[in-house]
Formats: sequence, C-alpha cells, structure tokens
Amino acid sequence: MKVLWNEQIIDESKVKIDLEDRGYQFGDGIYEVIRIYDGCMYMEKEHLDRFWESAQKIRMTLPFTQVELSQRLHRLANEVGIENGRIYFQVTRGVAKPRLHDFPDSAVVQPVLLADIQPVSRPSVKQNLGIRAGFVEDRRWLHCDIKSISLLGNLLALDEAKQKGFEEAVLLREGFVTEASASNLWMVKDGILYTHPDGQLILPGITKMKIRELTKALGIEVKEVAFTKKELLAADECFKTSSVAEIVPIIEIDKQKIGDGMPGKVTKRILKAYIEAINLFVQAHRNEK
Ligand SMILES: Cc1ncc(COP(=O)(O)O)c(C=O)c1O
Repeated sequence: MKVLWNEQIIDESKVKIDLEDRGYQFGDGIYEVIRIYDGCMYMEKEHLDRFWESAQKIRMTLPFTQVELSQRLHRLANEVGIENGRIYFQVTRGVAKPRLHDFPDSAVVQPVLLADIQPVSRPSVKQNLGIRAGFVEDRRWLHCDIKSISLLGNLLALDEAKQKGFEEAVLLREGFVTEASASNLWMVKDGILYTHPDGQLILPGITKMKIRELTKALGIEVKEVAFTKKELLAADECFKTSSVAEIVPIIEIDKQKIGDGMPGKVTKRILKAYIEAINLFVQAHRNEK
C-alpha cells in the first residue's frame, strides 16, 4: 500500500522510521483521522483546523500550509483510490540526536509527516443493536483536547473495560462522565441531549460539531454540561460519536440497562440525520465531478 511520507508518496515498505524520531521515543506528535466517503474527505477543513490547533498547543511549527497538506493528502487519496475508508495522518516533532527531553530548535529539526489510508465501512450492526460499555476511571493527562499520538491513557482505559468483558470504556473523572476511550459521549434525558463541554478534559470532536448543527435543525435541545455516573445510569439513552464509527448507541453500562436497553428514539433520529447529511455531501461532490 502507498503512503505519504513527508512530500513523497511511496510504498509503505520503503518508509524508514528513525530510532531517534521523537514520535517513536516520546510520543511527541499529533494526528488526525478523516473519514472518506465515496472518495471524498468528510469535514476535511474542520479536521485540518483542529490539527493546527493541536500543533499550536504543543508548540510545534508545521513546515507546510493547510493548503499544501490538503494537496498532499488528496494526492495520496487519488493514488490509493479507496472509495470508503479513513485517512490517518500524523506529524512528529522530528528526528533529534542525541535523545533529549528539550524541544529541538524548529529551525534545525523538521517535523516528520506520515499518512495512510485504510478501507472502513459503516458499523451498521453496532449502530442498529448498540454496544455494552463499562465505567473506567479517567486517568489520562489534562490535555485531552490535544489530539496527541500519546494514546496510552486511552488504550489502558479501553483494555480495562475489555478485560471486564465490555466493548467500550465510559470514562469518569471525579465522578463526572468525560467521554469514551476514542469517542465523545452523549446521554438523552427527557428529550434533552447532554454532553461534556469542550475544554481540557475531552477531545473537541468533529462529529460532535456536526451533531450540534444537526440537532439545531431537528429542534433537539443540547446542553453541554458535565453529568455524573448516577445521572447517566438514570438516562433514557446513551451514545458515542466519532468520525470513523459515526454514532453508536450504548445500551448497557456496567451491566445496567440504559433506558429500556435498546437504541433510543432520539439516538436513531440523530443517526438518520447524520447519514442523510453524509449522503448529501456525497451527492454534492458527485455533481461537481
Ligand atoms: C478521545 C477521543 N474523543 C473523541 C473523539 C471523536 O472525535 P471525532 O468526532 O473528531 O472523530 C475521538 C476520536 O478519535 C477520540 O479519540
């Protein structure tokens, strides 16, 4: 499979990761994942903006403009030709020898860019039936708004949930629900949609951004306020959102049913609107071609 490595598109077997790459040694880098529908990148601009925000938060100067990065990603997408999938791209702070914790001089050390595309299909079974999750203490750092490649905290949380036989982790910080291990988390109570406010404790999801827009059009009230474990267990519905999995209902947490233990009415309405928005996006791109 072809990948993007800095400015080149080459076979993945030709990529050389230096032992002293700061991404490899420190997890010193950031990433993004954009969903590709019918050969087009969905909400590309929003993902690129968040990528630039993450770069700024880790004090990294990117060696290309948004337009240049977008052109490279599109070159890769054209070369690989996957119609439905996701593009993953990351930038590490680069190769600096010897290994020192100090950030290297950005005039000397250039960030290293990598991108690859993999096929992905809509997880329809999970979207229709929902999944079972477990509560896990949120022990991640306090920069969860940065889309950092250092995902160990998220991986540990997911693994803890899986060890207990659940498919997903619902993270709790000081009794409040933050998000899931790689998704934003939502609950519905008495027709109102609740989710954790953006800030340092969660990733500001691009899917979350889209849902804000769709719920406005649907006339569903959204409150971005933190809620507790107890409030979530007493909710009517729960779901998680991410670019790759879109909207997936959570029907049980710690073996306790949420609502009637089935994907809820409001969740289904939002999922339907989300898929319709994607179909419109795809149609608009087809008409442009
Ligand atoms: C921790 C975390 N929260 C939320 C999300 C959802 O973000 P998005 O909707 O932009 O994919 C992700 C996606 O990877 C994530 O890793």
